[in-house]
Amino acid sequence: MTQQTKSILVWDVPTRVFHWLLVIAFAIAWLSYEDNRYLDTHIFSGYTFLGLLIFRLIWGVFGTHYARFQQFSYNSTEVISYIKGLFGEDLRHYVGHNPAGAWAIFALIGFGLALTLSGLFVLGGEEQHGPLAGIVSFRQSGIFRETHEVAAYGLLLLVFIHFCGVITESLLHKENLIGAMFRGTKSADTESASVRPHRLIATTMITVILAYVMATFGGYLTETADQPYLPFKGPELVQNELWQEECSDCHFAFHPSLLPARSWQLIFKQQADHFDDDLDLDEETVTELLAYANANSADLEQIEPAWRMNSSIASKDTPLRITDVRYWKKKHEEIDAEVWKRDSVKSKANCAACHLDAEQGTFEDADMRIPGDNSLDSIEWLKSVLGGAAK
Ligand code: HEC
Ligand code: HEC
Repeated sequence: MTQQTKSILVWDVPTRVFHWLLVIAFAIAWLSYEDNRYLDTHIFSGYTFLGLLIFRLIWGVFGTHYARFQQFSYNSTEVISYIKGLFGEDLRHYVGHNPAGAWAIFALIGFGLALTLSGLFVLGGEEQHGPLAGIVSFRQSGIFRETHEVAAYGLLLLVFIHFCGVITESLLHKENLIGAMFRGTKSADTESASVRPHRLIATTMITVILAYVMATFGGYLTETADQPYLPFKGPELVQNELWQEECSDCHFAFHPSLLPARSWQLIFKQQADHFDDDLDLDEETVTELLAYANANSADLEQIEPAWRMNSSIASKDTPLRITDVRYWKKKHEEIDAEVWKRDSVKSKANCAACHLDAEQGTFEDADMRIPGDNSLDSIEWLKSVLGGAAK
């Protein structure tokens, strides 16, 4: 039986924009998860992904015909009979999603939600950022991190299955479905009608995302050497003027959140023999400095570095050096010996040479740049492109 067919618009513009931006956001999230320095990019892609999913949930109810969930809610019998049909005579063509594809879409949305929601919990627990900061503790964040990882691999597997399904269907029906997701058109019987394109909604989506890009990364374009952009700013830590004054003469004034209270107590007890120097502080000054140190020490675990430093010190140990703590050593072991000798670094204790937010004490992952290394090449490249365009 040959049926009369024509080409109609099946995927409206917002659905296509959603689809490809979701692909891009997912890819960026994968590329940026490993290197902590790109945590701001990772979080950016995560929020974008979540925003897109929320849009899709709304569009699945109020969108155009083929985008509606109701249009492609098939039960398991229909899915099985569709798959059987693939191997037999009864090869059926669906204008919208086929039953197997529809199930893949629902699974993708479900895993996507599990991925981004668990990500919000990791962000709140591990980094104390985002809407769940202060609600999830550092210790609770472990379970969410595992969920986040499982969901990410699960979603990757689903993307692969979805992709294989699209290729299979394209070959069987000799119809390029990937192209259809760009153009929006597919062949249909003569009774089916085109959907409305809804270009204005798609333009709004793109505008919102561009504004979000600028809000997140715009700072890189305007930063100067004296005023570097600090991405991904965390909660402010308590600072103390006297501490800054007394502890910054010979080296960088380390924030008290880097060592437990017992370490600070020992440091002040031995102040007359402070790494071969005499700090020569009077009793009143020591009392004030110690009160500040105790109230902001690592044992309080206010921020991620404090928590990690504290967790890696055995309770029987009282380290005098931050640079002797296991977590600190582990985080810095991959840095070349040559880097430490650079004039811009010189000492391990010169935290501010590499950590732009060392003075604030926050040591955010995204605020680390090794001087002399173009560690954020992509940003340099972007700047040169934009600089070139401005000329
Ligand atoms: C008179 C100079 C001087 C002053 C003032 C001073 N320090 Fe030090 N501090 C040193 C020297 C020297 C070292 C050893 C540096 C090295 O080996 O790299 C050191 C090291 C440290 C370290 C260990 C750093 C590491 O390697 O992890 C801590 C912690 C520290 N000082 C805390 C303080 C505090 C808190 C104050 C303010 C109350 C202070 N220092 C004021 C001279 C000073
Ligand atoms: C030569 C550059 C350099 C110096 C100096 C330096 N760091 Fe780092 N720091 C790094 C690098 C590189 C990392 C690893 C980032 C990563 O995990 O990808 C790091 C990671 C860290 C982290 C972990 C951040 C996180 O959340 O993953 C902390 C905390 C930290 N450094 C504290 C310090 C302190 C405190 C000092 C000074 C006593 C210091 N660093 C000195 C380069 C430096």
